[in-house]
Amino acid sequence: MSGFERWGAATERALYGRAGFYRRETPASHFTTSARTPVFAEAIARVADEVDERLGRPEGFTVVDVGAGGGDLLADLAGLLDRRISLVGVELRPRPAGLPERIAWRPEPPDRVSGLIVACELLDNVPCDVAVLDPEGRARYEEVDAEGRTRLGETLEAEDEQWIDKWWPLTVPGDRAEIGRTRDAAWADLTARLDRGTALAVDYGHTRSDRPQGGTLTGFAHGRQTEPIPDGARDVTAHVAVDAIACDSFQRQRDALHALGFTATRPPMALAYRNPTAYALALAKTTATARLTDPAGLGGHWWLRTDRP
Ligand SMILES: C[S@@+](CC[C@H](N)C(=O)[O-])C[C@H]1O[C@@H](n2cnc3c(N)ncnc32)[C@H](O)[C@@H]1O
Repeated sequence: MSGFERWGAATERALYGRAGFYRRETPASHFTTSARTPVFAEAIARVADEVDERLGRPEGFTVVDVGAGGGDLLADLAGLLDRRISLVGVELRPRPAGLPERIAWRPEPPDRVSGLIVACELLDNVPCDVAVLDPEGRARYEEVDAEGRTRLGETLEAEDEQWIDKWWPLTVPGDRAEIGRTRDAAWADLTARLDRGTALAVDYGHTRSDRPQGGTLTGFAHGRQTEPIPDGARDVTAHVAVDAIACDSFQRQRDALHALGFTATRPPMALAYRNPTAYALALAKTTATARLTDPAGLGGHWWLRTDRP
């Protein structure tokens, strides 16, 4: 065997295989995300409250965090949301120690959900294949081995070719694109479970007007960006073609947070003299909000929503 396979299969094995990266590692040991900021949890609690109100504050309302990582978001939500609301973490790894008891933990999303499904930085970790236009103008799969060496493989299958033609056309030999069909399918699977409420994905992404040339496939390990080598020692991720995903709306995180009333406004200096503790807390919240809304950082992430009445 050559050891070369398509990116989708190689990433699946490297991240989720028996000895895969996410079977062993918590995201927090390698990189930071919005979900680890308490202000983000406040924003999600506000979304949950809006959805809960829209649904008439029913007895059974669940917030499901899919790809819950170390459970940070749910742990914060446990302190913010009414006890009537059930909290469920969906994650491949076992339940983290010390999570509040009211949080349920499971390896698969529930079949039916009434409430709010959140998937923060999940879709960018759904493995996808990579297409490259060869010198003869044929779109072919890029293959990779466990050391990150690449070569061209077969020509694209019909459904992948259609996706590429529609969402990320390759025009010049050497053009390269990540095929988003697996992400589209992952979102369709999650939203098919939603009876009433909202599903919200928060992720890195791009649209047809700003697809990054050559794609975005990259690695992360121990706080550093690395080559995307599918060796199980690092995260392998690619941004999401958000406009290809069947959802009701999408907007940048910065705009979503502003619409929810989160702005990075410095507290007045007078507060520092009157109540130094309150000032320090308000300043910490301003700093966190500034990070979450920074257009060059987390603020540039996308919020994708699917709403069911
Ligand atoms: C980039 S991390 C994000 C963690 C957390 N949501 C955050 O934003 O900090 C992606 C997480 O999704 C989990 N994951 C990926 N595919 C999954 C699946 N099919 N079912 C459950 N968890 C999954 C991984 O194990 C990993 O913890």
